[in-house]
Order: sequence, then C-alpha cells, then structure tokens
Amino acid sequence: MSVDDTPQTEPPTEEISLTVNGETVSAEVEPRLKLSDFLRREQGLRGVRVGCEHGVCGACTVLVDGKGVKSCLMLAVQADGSEITTVEGLTGDGGALHPIQEAFHETHALQCGFCTSGFVVATKELLEENPDPDRDAIEHGLADNVCRCTGYQNIYEAVERAADYADEGSHGGGDG
Ligand code: FES
Ligand code: FES
Repeated sequence: MSVDDTPQTEPPTEEISLTVNGETVSAEVEPRLKLSDFLRREQGLRGVRVGCEHGVCGACTVLVDGKGVKSCLMLAVQADGSEITTVEGLTGDGGALHPIQEAFHETHALQCGFCTSGFVVATKELLEENPDPDRDAIEHGLADNVCRCTGYQNIYEAVERAADYADEGSHGGGDG
C-alpha cells in the first residue's frame, strides 16, 4: 500500500462583510459554509437553532434584510453585504426581552424551547408585514415553522398578544 504524500491544501475561502445584529462583521469563510453554521458556530449566536438542516423545521430562521430566511438553506457567502438579525438582536438594552419574547413567555408558548427562537423571528417578520393579523394570517405566517411540543395554540396566542403590545407601543425592552 502506498502512502499518499500529496500535500494537503487549505480549502479556499472568501471574504464576506455583513451586519449581524447591528455590528459589522468581516470574515473569511469557506464557500460551502451555511449561514446557520456561520452564525451559530463562528459568531456564537446560539439562538440560531439547527434542527433538520433541510429547510423544513424553521428553527434556524433569521431575518436577512428584514425577510425571514431559513439560514440552513443559505450559504454565508450569499449573505455578503446583507443585514442579519437573529433572535439575540431583538433584545433590548441589558438583555431586556423584546415584546414578542415577553408575549411568548407570558402565554407559555414554549415547552422544550428548541423551536422558539425561530418562531420569535418569524413573528417579528409577520407583525412587520401585518401588525394586526387574524388567526388565519398567523397560522399562514408561521406555517414554515414546526413545533413538536406545544400544539401551536399558545404560540398563536403569543402572536396576538405581541400584536396588542405593539399596538399599545409601551411594552417590553426591545424595539417593538
Ligand atoms: S434547521 Fe433550517 S429549517 Fe430546519
Ligand atoms: S417547544 Fe419544543 S419544539 Fe416547540
């Protein structure tokens, strides 16, 4: 058996520059690196959950230029120049909960919590587009997110409560 003495070469990388939760980030990344892994592993944003890695569960949802994206389906290099918001970016000064997070907490809209950051981010997008959604609009807006625990009713109630808070304009520590 011959020994392979081919020199090992480093995989190629590309430089990207993007905004993550308001901070400018520049990095050298492999072209194959998923945005979810870049955010979670390289930026330490553990609120980006990785479940199915096939675009099915929605646990990895982040906002890319204000639009909900399943970050397991996007490469980090595709996010070059974009503005990314993860669930960590929704909290206010000193870690104060965003009104959506408050609403999830108050309505017991989570059990194991694995899906929750994806739902919170998806709710942020939903309420930006429709500040007063009815139940059908909520179910439709969150249809790309899966929860194995809650049965969804409390999640839908949380979205309704978050919409009420945004309407009142006076609850929670985040940016509403
Ligand atoms: S981990 Fe991305 S959709 Fe499930
Ligand atoms: S709370 Fe467990 S998966 Fe949603």
